[in-house]
Amino acid sequence: MEVERYEEIFLGIAGVVLLRFLAALFYAAFGMHIHMMGFAGTIDPAKIAQTPPFDHPGVRQVAPGKYEAVIIGRAWSFSPKTIEVPAGADITFLATSMDVDHGFYVQGTRINMMLLPGQISRMTYRFEEPGTYMLLCHEYCGLGHQFMYGRIVVK
Ligand code: CUA
Repeated sequence: MEVERYEEIFLGIAGVVLLRFLAALFYAAFGMHIHMMGFAGTIDPAKIAQTPPFDHPGVRQVAPGKYEAVIIGRAWSFSPKTIEVPAGADITFLATSMDVDHGFYVQGTRINMMLLPGQISRMTYRFEEPGTYMLLCHEYCGLGHQFMYGRIVVK
């Protein structure tokens, strides 16, 4: 089969571009450790207050250097509104929504999840720098959406 010279060049360029995209994807996943949020199970939104670990929202240490932060989103607040975690530790966020879809975005980090009623979202992050980080709902969830925020204080 005869392939036109220009067609050959075009196919070659397209192939190189595709390989570069693939390389960037692998670098982001394994070099920069950027992953999709973990789906950590389902929960009955009506029974959140009775279902562990959401019956006791907040931060607890689960192992040396490892903490779990359990947070509930509802229109239009996070509970607890402020949490304190140590710098340099692995913090696993477990969060869900009581009512509608909410966002879970921590400014200046790669923490970016959706909170969906009926689902538990999970993501682990390590804050290297002490400071106060804003936790924002970045999914429009009704009239009070712009007031839905929290704080993560890293000490
Ligand atoms: Cu919750 Cu916007």
